Amino acid sequence: MTKSILVINGPNLNLLGTREPEIYGAETLDDIKDKMTEKAEGLDLSIDFRQSNVEGEIVNWIQEARENHDAIIINAGALTHTSVAIMDALLAVDTPTIEVHLSNIFKREEFRHHSYISGAAIGMITGFGAIGYLMAIDAAKNMLK
Ligand code: DQA
Repeated sequence: MTKSILVINGPNLNLLGTREPEIYGAETLDDIKDKMTEKAEGLDLSIDFRQSNVEGEIVNWIQEARENHDAIIINAGALTHTSVAIMDALLAVDTPTIEVHLSNIFKREEFRHHSYISGAAIGMITGFGAIGYLMAIDAAKNMLK
């Protein structure tokens, strides 16, 4: 049976393409969605791709993933560095999670060096731009074998 991956994008990632392109790249979130969907299809995976600027909505999606998805790929944006609620939701559902960041958060301001998501994730892909999302699909495929 085709396994389903929930892809969650947090605040401001809807602005990709125009938002600080020197840091986050020129690709839009729709570009990333299309590339992920194509790659996932080739690996017999399905992608449910979402973005929200609202922390509580992301918490709700994570809770629903327990029933509806086999893995989570998450770029929580700035909520990475602040949200105990998202970390707790990920720990509660126990759905294998891969953390992604476009930029290398460890090369940037100190406040970005800590991630609440990491404590609940299998691993993190950071600094490879949009390709990182595709790397995360490979990681998920391997994990779901
Ligand atoms: C980000 C890094 C975060 O620090 C930042 O707040 C973002 C994007 C990234 O993908 O590099 O919004 O998660």
